[in-house]
Amino acid sequence: MNTDNNTRATLGSRIGAILVAAGGSVGLGNIWRFPYVAGDNGGGAFLILYIGCIVLLGLPIMLAEMAIGRHSQLNVVGTYKSVSPAWRPLGYINLLISMLIMGFYFVVAGWTAEYFVSSVTGELAKLDSVEQYSAFFDTFRTNPWKPVLYSWIFIAVNHIIIALGVEKGIERSSKILMPVLFIILIVMSVNAVLMPGGAAGLEFLFKPDFSKINIDVFYQAMGQAFFSLSVGLGALITYASYFSRKTNIVKTAVSVTILDTLVAIIAGVMIFPVVFSVGIEPSSGPSLVFITLPAIFNTLPLSALWSSIFFLLLVIAAVTSTISLHEVFTLYIIEQWKIKRSVAAIITSAMAAVLATLASLSLGDWSGFTIMGYSFFDALDMFTSNILLPISGIGISLFAGWVLNKKILRDELTNFGELRFRPFSIFILLLRYLCPILAGVILLNSVGVL
Ligand code: TRP
Repeated sequence: MNTDNNTRATLGSRIGAILVAAGGSVGLGNIWRFPYVAGDNGGGAFLILYIGCIVLLGLPIMLAEMAIGRHSQLNVVGTYKSVSPAWRPLGYINLLISMLIMGFYFVVAGWTAEYFVSSVTGELAKLDSVEQYSAFFDTFRTNPWKPVLYSWIFIAVNHIIIALGVEKGIERSSKILMPVLFIILIVMSVNAVLMPGGAAGLEFLFKPDFSKINIDVFYQAMGQAFFSLSVGLGALITYASYFSRKTNIVKTAVSVTILDTLVAIIAGVMIFPVVFSVGIEPSSGPSLVFITLPAIFNTLPLSALWSSIFFLLLVIAAVTSTISLHEVFTLYIIEQWKIKRSVAAIITSAMAAVLATLASLSLGDWSGFTIMGYSFFDALDMFTSNILLPISGIGISLFAGWVLNKKILRDELTNFGELRFRPFSIFILLLRYLCPILAGVILLNSVGVL
């Protein structure tokens, strides 16, 4: 295995770089998490705050991560070390977060795979009330082996893609899967809007009720912006390390941000009209897509078809995101431990499988296994999203804003002067002050200080 920089894999085309990065960003965070978080936090009012956070917090960090990664052409630990050895611990924090996120994300990914299978076999369509769907979800989720098996299947698929490598695995799968994802999303949302009574759902999503805005909604919007754009843990440093010298980073980051936000909004357009058309509360939490939606699909003609397509959409979104997390860890092992890709991928998959198994069992048979009162599954989710991601987000913005030579950032964002990037000084100001302060505010809120 050759890990020399000059023989490193490069993402082929311009569209390849955009689709790969968008694949990492567009995930369950957009389709499963965004609608229920928006639903719980007032719909339209949340959306406005969310877009503000995307522009002021998410996009600058994404630009910085991409510039850093293409500059270093290395894994996260190697990257920080090459600029300033003192910053190496940030690389280890990045690795830790990617592994811990995999621990719970693979569990939810496994659920989407099981729901896809039960939709195709018609099992899901046999149930006929929200109570029955709720019982189905609980029975499945707490089953001792089924969800574990599905998350292992998911890890195995990831493993194969990662072991195939950057061009044949990651790039090729993203180029096929992302267009399919967009097509399904559009078909499903058109169908949703045409449902009788669907207009109320659109009103909920787009008509802001400012009385709903409070400081908690703001924290939620910031956290969701981080998670949805995949910023703050070096996943984009890793992917950008494969960008070619010709890739226009600003265009790529802006396209990915727009795609990610559009997918979240379209997921809302797909889900809220359906929810309102049968008069269910939009704020039904994480179970929205696993209980409420299947129950609603069942009232439609061709229900098995709609739910199969919907869960296929979730499976695709989850695969392209989990490979971005897997690659952060695998590339680290390849480059820092000098181990070949096939073996490095096995190490990552095995570690992820252990965590995912514990997380899955913690919702059922091993529910006594708690950390500070939370199940292991919830603890992983909360600890990474609310504490580690903001810490690492502060680190990355400070690193890019204060430590990294400004010339490097400018060169990367302008392709050594070939392109223009006018808002450069605003970008630096955001990285130096606003991003670390806002991420600090999320952190202090999470640990209960604010
Ligand atoms: N952004 C993905 C989603 O919306 C999840 C994800 C993938 C992620 N890679 C990440 C989140 C890196 C934070 C950091 O589902």
